[in-house]
Amino acid sequence: MLHDELTIKITPTTASRLDSVDWDKLPFGKVFSDHMLVMDYFNGEWQKPEIVPFGTLDLHPATSAIHYGQSIFEGMKATKNEKGEVLIFRPDLNAKRFHESCERMCMPTISEATFIELIRKTVDVDRDWVPAKDGFALYIRPYMFATDDFIGIKPSDTYKFIIFTCPVGAYYTQPVNVKIEEYYTRAAQGGVGRAKTAGNYAASLYPAKLAKDEGFDQLLWTDAVEHKYIEESGTMNVLFEIDGVIVTPSEDSDTILRGVTKRSIVEIAKKWGIPVQERKLQVAELVEALRQGQVTDAFGAGTAATLAQIAKIGYRDELFVLPDPKTRVTSLKIGAYLNDLKAGKIEDEFGWLLRF
Ligand code: COI
Repeated sequence: MLHDELTIKITPTTASRLDSVDWDKLPFGKVFSDHMLVMDYFNGEWQKPEIVPFGTLDLHPATSAIHYGQSIFEGMKATKNEKGEVLIFRPDLNAKRFHESCERMCMPTISEATFIELIRKTVDVDRDWVPAKDGFALYIRPYMFATDDFIGIKPSDTYKFIIFTCPVGAYYTQPVNVKIEEYYTRAAQGGVGRAKTAGNYAASLYPAKLAKDEGFDQLLWTDAVEHKYIEESGTMNVLFEIDGVIVTPSEDSDTILRGVTKRSIVEIAKKWGIPVQERKLQVAELVEALRQGQVTDAFGAGTAATLAQIAKIGYRDELFVLPDPKTRVTSLKIGAYLNDLKAGKIEDEFGWLLRF
């Protein structure tokens, strides 16, 4: 579908829920705005998108995504500046990643320009739902799933693409504690770890539950072959400041999600002259640096998580307590910069914001 051909039929809700929202208490992912965009794929092409009142879906019990997992998604955030303009952070990178997920999961692609335009229109209809408050945003969830009513293993012939949005507060309200995982695996080379596909998250639930029982918020995944290298955390990429250098696992491996927030942090740090290394990070190197007190900062990066400081890291029977999150320099400075940028309080010097 060409960007120019995009006409969207809009059916506005007759019963807005906007007035019932408690804007001071916004749990993450539980409040949904008034509309959603729906676009179906059949007969080998995408049909016309429509924006309709937010509501439930009517699904055949054999809907193939539910059985065989052709299901992908993205996450983005929209914020509002003082002038009331809506700002969306780097949707081009999400569009690109979505495209890559489509290809890996054998699903029909959507051009990056169309993807961005559908996002813009969906958010524009519910622009009153975009919070204009520090620490809050409108979380945007585009997703696609296979809809053939068919039992059998083959790519579906039909799909649904939907975008809905939720006003959200913080995903993590406190610095997080993570445990280095040496048995379970998030992703193996040649698998689907780089795709933002539903099954990756389902597979992480049981190991994450075991870690939770031990008092950790999340796992630090290691590679599937030797459990020798740090990869990412369940909800975010990870970065460590070791001896004044930010080290983050490189994206060369197809086992790591290409995070938009992580990429942005790396670019900001480089611009500010903070040394950054995107490379393989051995568990042994990280643990030794933790033992020597050389890890002065550690944080996760994700759309939902934003920049989430890591307070403690567990490794086997050792527990490393990192420097007090309130006194850290790098994560606080980069986190504040990102927040100000997204809120439109400072100049968009990187040209990262879509504004309307
Ligand atoms: C996101 O950061 O957007 C994600 O999809 C991860 C999930 C924890 C909400």
